[in-house]
Amino acid sequence: MDATTEAVREFYELFPYPSGAPTLRMGFDARYLLSLSRKERPMGRPIRVLDAGCSRGVGALGCATLQPDIQVLGVDINRVALEEARGEAQRRDLSNIEFAEVDLSTLEGLEVPEGGFDVITSSGVLHHLADPAEGLRLLKGALAPHGVLALMVYSKSGRRETLEISYVVDALVDKNQGLTEQLADARAVVRRLSELPGATDAWKIAAAVDDVEFVDRYLHIQECVYDVPELFDFINQGGLSFLRWMDPPAWRANAQTIGADLAQRASGLDGMQAARLLDSLGHAPGSMEVYLCHPENGLKSMPQATQLAETVFMVHPEIRFHTMQRNMWCATRVEAVAVERRTEEPVIVAPGVARALALVLRDQNEPFQGQAMFEVLIQEGHSAESVARAFLHAIREEWVYCPHMSELLLS
Ligand SMILES: C[S@@+](CC[C@H](N)C(=O)[O-])C[C@H]1O[C@@H](n2cnc3c(N)ncnc32)[C@H](O)[C@@H]1O
Repeated sequence: MDATTEAVREFYELFPYPSGAPTLRMGFDARYLLSLSRKERPMGRPIRVLDAGCSRGVGALGCATLQPDIQVLGVDINRVALEEARGEAQRRDLSNIEFAEVDLSTLEGLEVPEGGFDVITSSGVLHHLADPAEGLRLLKGALAPHGVLALMVYSKSGRRETLEISYVVDALVDKNQGLTEQLADARAVVRRLSELPGATDAWKIAAAVDDVEFVDRYLHIQECVYDVPELFDFINQGGLSFLRWMDPPAWRANAQTIGADLAQRASGLDGMQAARLLDSLGHAPGSMEVYLCHPENGLKSMPQATQLAETVFMVHPEIRFHTMQRNMWCATRVEAVAVERRTEEPVIVAPGVARALALVLRDQNEPFQGQAMFEVLIQEGHSAESVARAFLHAIREEWVYCPHMSELLLS
């Protein structure tokens, strides 16, 4: 293990990330991720997921709990966090998850399943390596040809205020002390500065976060940040291709961010240019979250209007449906339906066919054929044309996705 990795390990073993009780995240939905790629996975074996830099396992354990038929491997250098994650898996009686100590700078000791991992996730990790591009290149070697890699690295603009505070901490705190002493000292400095008249919210937040978050943000010993062109260079150096942003609309300027007329001008930009524009305007999301694939693979195309009836759909795992309803004597009146995409505020769905579709999707946790949805909604009195329009809207807004045929045959 090189000296940087040793130091990073020591850092995280003292302050395993994230803090607090082990609240599980939902984790990535493997079938949804695989549905994005043109190439289908071969049948005959379970989906294999690698969480590269799993730490305390909150994402990997969530993934394994909600998707019992997939195999999850979480790796990290942090032995304290791995021990805790193993204990948590045992307490939850999970037999589809394992944890292993693996350094992502070398991948030495990583057991890559035959054909590679179908899905690799790595969130907030590669930017802590001495050579992140080499780490990405190694992960590419472990990714199946049809596989999808979900990556999160720091954004330069999203991290600007954090970097400024770390710079001040760096200048005023003696870095020759142990990390615990640095923390106490840095907390006192930040508290003082957060109380000065005119201190920005960033300082107040820094004074309020817990110790784990504080060291991770302001006392890190090894991290790098990316702007949009640097991110794309990094992906190229890793030998992978950009599949798409995890949240594409969040990477396009719209009428709210730059006004309707300028948004119209920006609509002609390609994905990278649009993202760079948004990043330069300071409106980009706080971190760079992307799906990547092998260069020979690519984004699967979405069905056209004429293909909707025979296409199989599944409700998108990151959509939440909210229903406002009133119960009366032997009757229920639905007064509003709202859809919440990822981290956005819920949006009320217009009454009519779109709302009827949202209500059916709300209760649908299995794949379904478009034809069945047409039949239900036509029976409710909507025209085939309006159902098709609502469906195309649902695809664009990612209320639904189209799983691969191989997943349907396997389940
Ligand atoms: C900020 S935490 C992120 C943890 C987790 N992915 C999450 O989203 O909560 C960074 C993790 O990367 C791990 N890490 C850093 N360098 C590593 C390396 N060379 N090999 C494996 N893991 C590493 C650290 O031990 C730490 O657990």
